[in-house]
Amino acid sequence: MDNEKVLLTDVTGRDGFQMEDWVETEDKISIINEIIAAGVKRIEATSFVSPKAVPQLKDAKEVIQQLNREDVSIITLVPNVKGAEFALESDVDEVNVVVSVSETHNRKNVNKTVDESIEGIVEINRFMKTGGKKVNVGLATTFGCPFEGLYEVDRVTEVIKKLTAQGLDSFMLADTTGMANPLQVSGFVNSVKDSFPDVDYSLHLHNTRGMGLANVIAGYDAGIRIFDASLGGIGGCPFAPGATGNVCLEDVAHMFYQMNIPIDPDLNQLITASKRLEKLLGYKLPGQVMKAGLSTDLHQA
Ligand code: COA
Ligand code: ZN
Repeated sequence: MDNEKVLLTDVTGRDGFQMEDWVETEDKISIINEIIAAGVKRIEATSFVSPKAVPQLKDAKEVIQQLNREDVSIITLVPNVKGAEFALESDVDEVNVVVSVSETHNRKNVNKTVDESIEGIVEINRFMKTGGKKVNVGLATTFGCPFEGLYEVDRVTEVIKKLTAQGLDSFMLADTTGMANPLQVSGFVNSVKDSFPDVDYSLHLHNTRGMGLANVIAGYDAGIRIFDASLGGIGGCPFAPGATGNVCLEDVAHMFYQMNIPIDPDLNQLITASKRLEKLLGYKLPGQVMKAGLSTDLHQA
């Protein structure tokens, strides 16, 4: 298991831009294309959701159309079959669907009960399979919810059980508001893998309480090899109080790089892109390596 390669999924276009004021379509496209050019192989680029719910992403179709798609998997988030139809028309490679482990957050996010969302996901999966596309289930508030508190793993296992019974086989454990700690991450990952060993898992972590990178390592040690992250560490859920950015793409990449764990993207290109994003958004981004440089960059004595 030592030094096994990690696949980084950039979620700047979706989790990142959904949390910003309006970003111009051409700027979204050029930032995402720069992330692709840096060598990131998996991109959650936008969402086909209701423009009333998330107006920041109402240009989803135009964004997808203008991405450089030769050597990358493009993913979009969809909340229902209507979104899945748009995703299929845009010929994305995969879709992400979402259900919260928390009833309260699920209601605020998609206006449904958890069981209604599960039914919806089964329907979306059936539809996407007609187009031969992969469906990943994002389990929002996996570790805890700002309305309901921290969870035990059984709560998550129950949702995964219902979905695997319906043929879903790829799950993102999402710490929507950065409540998880490393011990909890390793416990949850080991436990769901024991219960359902034949499905794929990835981690979607937020750095809201500074535990992001520690949680990434806890996940890696428990066998996770796919991690979501966003350029400069932007992002957050508009429907969860206190939500802040994802773990920062170039910080995660830098950490794995320094640990000799293989990753795809070029670090310096990511940092350049992150600095450009910071200028574009007009405020200091949370990313740290973009400010400090690589730990192997030397200063003149
Ligand atoms: N794409 C575009 N428009 C959509 C849509 C989609 N996937 N799904 C619904 N709509 C439109 C409907 O056509 C309707 O438009 P109208 O008022 O002009 O007729 C409107 O959105 C409301 O649709 P309705 O089916 O009544 O849904 P709702 O108001 O209960 O909202 C969701 C439910 C799921 C569509 C909405 O809450 C949503 O898109 N949420 C996204 C949440 C999200 O992205 N969270 C962050 C990431 S986890
Ligand atoms: Zn998120």
